[in-house]
Amino acid sequence: MELLEPTPANLARAARALAEGSLVALPTETVYGLGANAFDVDAVARVFEAKRRPSFDPLIVHIADLEGLDRVAEFRGSLGPRLAAAFWPGPLTLILPKREAVPGLVTSGLDTVAVRMPAHPVARELIRLSGVPVAAPSANPFGYLSPTRAEHVAKMLGDRVDFIVDGGPCDIGVESTVLDLSSERPTILRPGGLPRSAIEELIGSVDLVDRSSALPTSPGQLESHYAPRTPLRLFEAGALARATPGRGVAAIFFDEGSRRAAAGRGFATEIVLSPGAELREAAAALFVALHDLDASGWAEIWAERLPSEGLGLAVNDRLWKASTKGS
Ligand code: TXA
Ligand code: MG
Repeated sequence: MELLEPTPANLARAARALAEGSLVALPTETVYGLGANAFDVDAVARVFEAKRRPSFDPLIVHIADLEGLDRVAEFRGSLGPRLAAAFWPGPLTLILPKREAVPGLVTSGLDTVAVRMPAHPVARELIRLSGVPVAAPSANPFGYLSPTRAEHVAKMLGDRVDFIVDGGPCDIGVESTVLDLSSERPTILRPGGLPRSAIEELIGSVDLVDRSSALPTSPGQLESHYAPRTPLRLFEAGALARATPGRGVAAIFFDEGSRRAAAGRGFATEIVLSPGAELREAAAALFVALHDLDASGWAEIWAERLPSEGLGLAVNDRLWKASTKGS
């Protein structure tokens, strides 16, 4: 593996390698992705292998512009173009009818494909220079925490990728919102970096997949996902103030107020996601906190639920999935 700073020469090199079948980890505004040429079945197969990802879990195809979209999917109706105009580039993934050229391996045999135009300038430049759509799941082993820094990728997948392009820490820090436009009603399959309210302001009410429903239609809905190795327990907001941790329990608080309210409970270490209780800041800090705590060998991690609004929904979704590991 080679770690590359995003200089023009390095981007040109990584883009060429990408087009020719290499695996290139790249920064996006949400999390780091593990990129491969979406039209190259062997390269895509290596992505599944590197992540130990089951082949029933389809990948997101990343594009640099709307011409890229036209090569992999089509818009039917007016919702797609309106959403794309408002939110692309950005943290929104659309599920659309796929073009024949997209290999079935990318979509796990579905006749739909997940498409996203990322906003991170390094990601867009890499995709543009490569000249191909880029299939990229989050650059973590399947089921584990997503990476929001190049070091996270190096640590988790360093021996299984060809290049990691270092674009610094990810701004948003949780994965994109996945919105299914192929169903009868637009349906959020995974809450993420674009708040539901922003979508609803534009196109009216959308459904949110009920995670208690028996069969996940999007494996991001699998219950145990985004999980650290350390057991994680999720607490209602404010409840850590009354908690009685045993030895070696690390706490994650939303804000400084919560931490202060729980002073003296005896946590082994404490992390505050956003001192001033800002949901965006908390989301950006989430995976860094979990990676750090997971590397420190604590007995358990106890985390506080965020307010269920804006990016809080996406953070709570990740914490909830992290907390049900093994159950
Ligand atoms: O922010 C993100 O979305 C990041 C960055 C790298 O772009 N990518 C990411 O990819 O999170 P991944 O593979 O970890 O998650 C993709 C999600 C999965 O839950 C997958 O099941 C769902 O999208 N998905 C992909 N194609 C689908 C399809 N055709 N129908 C339904 N769900 C699909
Ligand atoms: Mg993922």
